[in-house]
Amino acid sequence: MSRAIDRRKFLGLAGAGLGGLALGGCGVLSTDGRQRLPSPARASGTGRVREYALEAAPAGFEIAGREFSTWGYDGGVPGPELRLTEGDTLRVRLKNALPAGTTIHWHGLPVENPMDGVPDVTQPPVRSGEEFVYEFVVPTAGTYMYHSHVGLQLDRGLYGPLIVEPKREELSYDREYTLLLDDWLDGVFGTPEDALAELRGAGGMMGGMGGMMGGPGGGPAMSGAVDYPYYLVNGRAAEDPASLAVRRCDRVRLRLMNPSSDTVFRFAAAGHRLTVTHADGLPVRPVTVDAVRIGMGERYDAILEANNPGVWQLAAVPEGKDGLARALLRYEESRGESPPPANARPPELGGRLLSYADLRDAGERSFPEDGLFSGPDRTHELTLSGDMGSYAWHIDGQRYPDADPLEVREGEWVRFNLQNHSMMWHPMHLHGHFFQVRNGTGRGPFKDTALVEPHMGELSFDLVANNPGEWFFHCHNAYHMETGMARLVSYGR
Ligand code: C2O
Ligand code: CU
Repeated sequence: MSRAIDRRKFLGLAGAGLGGLALGGCGVLSTDGRQRLPSPARASGTGRVREYALEAAPAGFEIAGREFSTWGYDGGVPGPELRLTEGDTLRVRLKNALPAGTTIHWHGLPVENPMDGVPDVTQPPVRSGEEFVYEFVVPTAGTYMYHSHVGLQLDRGLYGPLIVEPKREELSYDREYTLLLDDWLDGVFGTPEDALAELRGAGGMMGGMGGMMGGPGGGPAMSGAVDYPYYLVNGRAAEDPASLAVRRCDRVRLRLMNPSSDTVFRFAAAGHRLTVTHADGLPVRPVTVDAVRIGMGERYDAILEANNPGVWQLAAVPEGKDGLARALLRYEESRGESPPPANARPPELGGRLLSYADLRDAGERSFPEDGLFSGPDRTHELTLSGDMGSYAWHIDGQRYPDADPLEVREGEWVRFNLQNHSMMWHPMHLHGHFFQVRNGTGRGPFKDTALVEPHMGELSFDLVANNPGEWFFHCHNAYHMETGMARLVSYGR
């Protein structure tokens, strides 16, 4: 294919090079893009082993003073933070005290295939009453999460943060906070399985359940079809927010994660801007914005300069739905000041919104570097669509598990071109790899999850097949994944 594409790419790269020079040469051009991408084969170990035990079990859970029951890790939602350094060995003993089989997936980390936690693909589900030990060398630093990969268990409380520190931290900051954004219905109005049954019965729109699911509200850019009774930050509703203590002049690192099942959030900090430093765990050229849109499965790290004392709303608004999740940013200098009302929407939400086109890999890496005058070895053109009559979601007209694996060979440079033929967002997630989003800069961000916008939205990304195994590629909307929006990418075994 494609003299034309090669030429465009060449021009794109030329432009990026000049940009780099103009900025004082902070970027180093890689001549070895394929080799420098994280993969388990490259992880050099520290020799240190970090051991954790996690029990997945039914748990009582309080939201704004009301008691509900759900499934969680170690009795809480979110599950406990796992924190270690890149190159450490993570060893997690999972004890399954649920009345159903379960697994853990290490979302975003390119681990060895047998440790990836996809039921019936990389392991049988861990049965009720049994244990399983996950163990792998953590290949790369960043902001990740862990969650169950069985059925709709993610839409219960079975998720938690996984923070991997670099061997040497290059970012300077005074404090850090992790914010997990979630949509919550479990135990309030039945279970996620009940919600799916309702979607199936209602042609893909929830409206029943005593009116509690709200209905389609929000128009064409809905992030999902389920209106949740609660939106949470770190397991807490807007009426009962967590407070992040800061002091004037602190540089505060926020680790934002969206482990929700059906909600794209827009996040902003009242009175402050956000300098985004990492996308899906990996460093990007810092870019300062007012608001960040974060799809299910995505993560962003951002620095907030605490230069505006007060008590401020950190708001996460569900796109196309009613409601709001929040935490408070509370300056120690402003003790005694009362917080903004629970539903206050910072004007920053309507300010400059981060887009993928703003993001560039911090190392200025690009795979096409070593293939500047050639194209990818293989391209998959795939449509994303749904059949609302039966409530089923498709990749290129096929519904997993009745779907062909996407062919890839080891070592290939592979391109995916995705086009969204539906009216919903699809955060597409690939296991075992980072891919480079083609955003017109020639030096796009490396990510593991990326949103494809509704109504013919397009996403193109490149990857190098450097981690053999059977990998899941799917929409991170739990309801879309569960009803077919998934494929396998298998190679090298
Ligand atoms: Cu976060 Cu396949 O999952
Ligand atoms: Cu989807």
